[in-house]
Amino acid sequence: MKKIYGIGLGPGDEELITMKAYNLIKACDYIFVPKSKGKSLAKSIVSKYTSEKNIIELDFSMGEDNTAKYEDAAQKINSIVKDQQIAVYLTIGDPMVYSTYIYLMYELQKFNIQVETVPGIASFNAAACCLNIPITIKDESFYLCDRNVDEKILQAVDSICILKVNQNKRDIINKLEKHHFSYVYIKRCMQEEQEIIYDKNQILLDDDYMSLIFARKKLMNHHNLI
Ligand SMILES: C[S@@+](CC[C@H](N)C(=O)[O-])C[C@H]1O[C@@H](n2cnc3c(N)ncnc32)[C@H](O)[C@@H]1O
Repeated sequence: MKKIYGIGLGPGDEELITMKAYNLIKACDYIFVPKSKGKSLAKSIVSKYTSEKNIIELDFSMGEDNTAKYEDAAQKINSIVKDQQIAVYLTIGDPMVYSTYIYLMYELQKFNIQVETVPGIASFNAAACCLNIPITIKDESFYLCDRNVDEKILQAVDSICILKVNQNKRDIINKLEKHHFSYVYIKRCMQEEQEIIYDKNQILLDDDYMSLIFARKKLMNHHNLI
């Protein structure tokens, strides 16, 4: 039976991948990565112990029919990988968090390819650690979303992380301020280009896709966390 490992690479620091991921990537026959417009972050994280030779890029660029792209990618993987070979698919952060991998995984399963998913450190997890801000403490709840913030949910939680914020930061920040959250913007977390920005105007000026906003309800145990 054919098998592929969907591997989470973490936020970008090459040391923040699991031993399991490292061992599989070193031992594998094929490495599949999503094709990127610029420099591939996934490729650069593993570049020290991989050869360009066995890296195969899959094109998921947005088009008319995204489902067809995942079907095509699964078909390509199925035609390349043979039984007993080790194939990996690399993805940033954790594979089960807003990842293209999820759609690919379902298509691969239709080909009867066995899929094993290796967790990675998700961006919101890395951001909280980088900022020394707890995601949750006892009795608290946390809201993870992308792009849009639902105000009803926001009112009910203690902390929130919003991914893919580059399109509508103003709306997100306005909602956070309305509900008395203090917030911080972090881009390229755990990468060389990492920046942490607290000032609203400066946050609004930035336009990096690899960014998120982490926020907490203002005072907690008499400490303003952000
Ligand atoms: C397609 S989602 C992938 C999420 C990823 N699977 C995860 O576990 O975090 C892409 C979004 O993740 C966030 N992201 C991923 N890595 C990041 C990093 N190192 N720093 C800041 N944001 C990051 C950004 O919000 C970006 O728009």
